[in-house]
Amino acid sequence: MYICLCNGYREAEIASAAQCGASTPEEAFHRLGNGPCCRRCLPTAQAIIDREIEMCEGLKISGLAQVAELV
Ligand code: FES
Repeated sequence: MYICLCNGYREAEIASAAQCGASTPEEAFHRLGNGPCCRRCLPTAQAIIDREIEMCEGLKISGLAQVAELV
């Protein structure tokens, strides 16, 4: 699904940028090639980024728990 109509960025692209370290829509958009224009999509883009960061944090905690079980 398209999130940013100005740049043609899809949800998966924004999520991917977040997985690569972007924590704001501006960072994500710059990683994807273009900064925001009208900025209408930024709240939705931030929600996608927050969701991805939360999922990554969960994976880290889960991974640490698995390592702790092995030690
Ligand atoms: S819709 Fe994303 S900057 Fe305009």
